Amino acid sequence: MMKELSNPFVIGKYVSKEYFCDREKEAELLVHHIVNGRHITVMSERRLGKTGLVEHVFANGLSDDYETFLIDIYTCKNLREMVYMLANEVFKKLARKQSLLERLLRIVRSVKATISYNIVTGEPEVGLAIGDIVQPEITLDEILYCLETSDKTCVVAMDEFQKIVSFEDGNMEALLRTKIQHLKKTQFVFAGSERHLLEGIFSDPARPFYNSVVFMQLLPIEKQEYIKFCQRLFSHYKKSVSDALVSRLYDCFQGVTWYLQLSMNEAFTLAERGGHVGEDCYDHILNHLVDSKRFTFEDRYAALTEKQKTVLLAIAAEYPNSPTLTSQDFIAKYKLKTASSIQTAVKALTEKGILNDYHGAKRPIDLLFILWLKQY
Ligand SMILES: Nc1ncnc2c1ncn2[C@@H]1O[C@H](COP(=O)(O)OP(=O)(O)OP(=O)(O)O)[C@@H](O)[C@H]1O
Ligand SMILES: [Mg+2]
Repeated sequence: MMKELSNPFVIGKYVSKEYFCDREKEAELLVHHIVNGRHITVMSERRLGKTGLVEHVFANGLSDDYETFLIDIYTCKNLREMVYMLANEVFKKLARKQSLLERLLRIVRSVKATISYNIVTGEPEVGLAIGDIVQPEITLDEILYCLETSDKTCVVAMDEFQKIVSFEDGNMEALLRTKIQHLKKTQFVFAGSERHLLEGIFSDPARPFYNSVVFMQLLPIEKQEYIKFCQRLFSHYKKSVSDALVSRLYDCFQGVTWYLQLSMNEAFTLAERGGHVGEDCYDHILNHLVDSKRFTFEDRYAALTEKQKTVLLAIAAEYPNSPTLTSQDFIAKYKLKTASSIQTAVKALTEKGILNDYHGAKRPIDLLFILWLKQY
């Protein structure tokens, strides 16, 4: 029986499989890799559902013989912060039973964790502060040893893994690779969207992680699957939605899951129980999404140089097409002067996190920002 949410189009978290659209083949493949003892790297463009897929598989796809851990290292600047995150996750998951907790504390001796007991459930809770991680490398060894000697197979997912490249410690790849190489049982799932960085880590023969993972490439959910999903959820709540509306929103956002979920979350609010949401709501939904971020967009736009503005407006005007930005046609159409000045602007826009490099093509990261610019 599905837990009833007030709005079934969930954004930014994983609730349960009922609210998760399709990804059956991808989930099956990820499980297949895991049960066959392979480390995996999941890549896709931004916001297509990498994290969601990992959460979905961790919640539903593996037997009780597996214990799973998921950390997002996007905000980590060094090994210490990463180890802190991992330690917290491992302690949280493994401390549920007194016997496991005792074992954990026996092994992970380099940190002094404080133990308290939840007054409601009586379960032990471990308190750990970043300052407790004094020797991150040793703590990491201890944690990995703990996972290796667990009676379950442990799977550790590291989201936004490309971040390790910019860790302050330096040489993080060699260090992590060496540690992982010595593990016999514990498995890793790496995920991220910065393709050139990830491919650099895993596909460059000169670098430590070369050839150490299988790649999984996530594509958009198929349009028909997403339509079916919307129909199912609307009808569960005794509402209906037109296929044409979902289809147009899908095209507008090129099937990028995050925007589809945002759109449908809003669409869902537009009908009472028993009501219908039709194609006529399309503009309302887009305006609503763009309006909610208008101030942010104004600031973001104001912070650009004139050249960057011109290039970005041209990209927005072309969206959803993505022309070659340095082609003669593009330059002429938008009166952009030289290819090299475009390249400079594009580089700056990439550094500002406005464009992303994927398959060698530059793509806007925030599609709502692009829609807003289209109106500009
Ligand atoms: N199969 C799905 N069905 C329904 N919602 C999903 C599905 N996959 C992802 N989502 C939702 O879409 C949004 C984007 O997904 P997610 O965060 O997993 O993408 P991501 O590829 O990890 O993004 P990022 O590049 O920002 O890390 C989230 O709100 C998530 O809850
Ligand atoms: Mg993610």
